[in-house]
Amino acid sequence: MSDPKQQIVIDYHDRTKHRMDGYAKGPDTLDWDAQPDPFRRFDGAEQIDLPLLADRLVIPFSALSSDQPAAAQSMDLSSVATLLEISVALSAWKQYGTARWSLRVNPSSGNLHPTETYLIAIAVEGLSDGLYHYRADAHALELRCRFSEAALSELELSQPQLYIGFSSVHWREAWKYGERAFRYCQHDVGHAMAAISYGAATLGWNISPQLMWGDDGLATLLGLDRQRDFGNAEREHPDLLLKILPGGQSCDGVGPASLLTLAQSGQWFGKANVLDPKHLYHWPVIDEVTEASQRPENAASPAVAAVDTSIIIPTECSETAGKLLRRRRSAQSFDGVTVMSRQHFSRCLDQLQPRTQYAPWNTVNWHPRIHLVLFIHRVEGIAPGLYALPRSEHGQALMRDNMRPEFQWQPVAGIPDSIPLQQLILAKAERTIAKLSCQQAIAAESCFSLAMLAEFEPTLQNAPWRYRELFWEAGAVGQTLYLEAEAAGLRGTGIGCYFDDPVHQLLGLTDNTLQSVYHFTVGGPLVDHRITTLPPYSGKG
Ligand SMILES: Cc1cc2nc3c(=O)[nH]c(=O)nc-3n(C[C@H](O)[C@H](O)[C@H](O)COP(=O)(O)O)c2cc1C
Repeated sequence: MSDPKQQIVIDYHDRTKHRMDGYAKGPDTLDWDAQPDPFRRFDGAEQIDLPLLADRLVIPFSALSSDQPAAAQSMDLSSVATLLEISVALSAWKQYGTARWSLRVNPSSGNLHPTETYLIAIAVEGLSDGLYHYRADAHALELRCRFSEAALSELELSQPQLYIGFSSVHWREAWKYGERAFRYCQHDVGHAMAAISYGAATLGWNISPQLMWGDDGLATLLGLDRQRDFGNAEREHPDLLLKILPGGQSCDGVGPASLLTLAQSGQWFGKANVLDPKHLYHWPVIDEVTEASQRPENAASPAVAAVDTSIIIPTECSETAGKLLRRRRSAQSFDGVTVMSRQHFSRCLDQLQPRTQYAPWNTVNWHPRIHLVLFIHRVEGIAPGLYALPRSEHGQALMRDNMRPEFQWQPVAGIPDSIPLQQLILAKAERTIAKLSCQQAIAAESCFSLAMLAEFEPTLQNAPWRYRELFWEAGAVGQTLYLEAEAAGLRGTGIGCYFDDPVHQLLGLTDNTLQSVYHFTVGGPLVDHRITTLPPYSGKG
């Protein structure tokens, strides 16, 4: 019999599928004027304004995937500010008529941004040792906890180190998407994690996920369990901690027990703001799946060894990383005619190979569990049809065993041997994939769309918290595609809205071994010139 928590997670996944005869349960009406505040703040906490310096970065985007990585910048207030500016800051304000909304460097389902970013700085010049909350609206840090001198002196730390923590305000997504929102919150964590990974690579810093942390410990470290600081404000759920060290640094960073001591003996400041004074709906299944997928301590999946790097396909993009990362956008529509060059397409797929020594896969250092089925519409020299891109041999075996027996599994001419792309069946599938993507034309009018198949039930076996990791990994795939699309002069869009089981039926999947957890599409964008673009932080130097 399966573990009850695992069953709750599987049941959640099943009941939040969009079906042809009905979408997952969500609100009947939306009051757009009552959207939850997209910006958390901690009133009463000291605010440290951060400079905007990313325009000065000269490292090209191409260097991030080359064998000559960026030289390590010293870790200080300016470089930390730059890391945030190129990963999770605002990237623009948009205006159409009287409507005005902000966009961020990291994407988010419905632009609702449930992910909050925290930062722990130790021995970072210009910042007191402590825990900070990042305010994207102001590009500022709020000092939530000042670590005590006495506790710090016991650790004898001299080398700078940085931790980035993420949490989610589930209500921000649930407000619009109801029960399916928990999935989107996890995707967004994956995108943010990958965004930070690319940012760290730009600064020449080493990053690694700290998956030994359980949710309870992380909540304490980030101050999320401090009832008196939250009062009636929406709570945040802890997700993930990343450790960042300047390149070449030998020390291992502070261990979990010492970090917890720093947080517990520190001085705390600030009260969280209420994001939405009137929650019109309540979605208890989100609380249930949150509880069931709670991460225990020391539950990290074994990290995989770095794979051979000698065959990386270089990008033709000559732009600086600082510019490219910040100009990532979601396409709202595609022209339906742009043909992607085979070189760009190969590069794009190449970057999805799980090379754990490069961004973003240094943050997803477990054995890959996300494999792709591509619906190719317009790629130079490749016939339209369905293609598989397994990201491991195990994934390939699972796909072959579980998908339609009539699929051909033939190598694709003109694609480098290092990329395991295989032809499943030739067919024009534009209308089909648009229909399966909640009737969204962006899935059809692109160069290609894809479904991300997760190794589902086998992964959740005795480890229901890995449900969240599946979405994080899918988010990292999505972030890579967003950036590679931009680098190729094209544009991508994440697709969270698709009809789950009809996708499975098309592929011949009949059980929970593989489940589609996210879709994506890449093409030649059409830009809506009626929308005005304004700078992210006008008036700020
Ligand atoms: C998890 C996820 C799911 C998304 N699903 C859709 C979708 O189904 N359709 C769509 O048009 N855009 C989708 N998007 C794109 C978002 O709407 C977009 O990221 C958001 O509006 C912010 O715009 P930006 O990406 O240009 O910053 C999705 C994005 C994410 C991260």
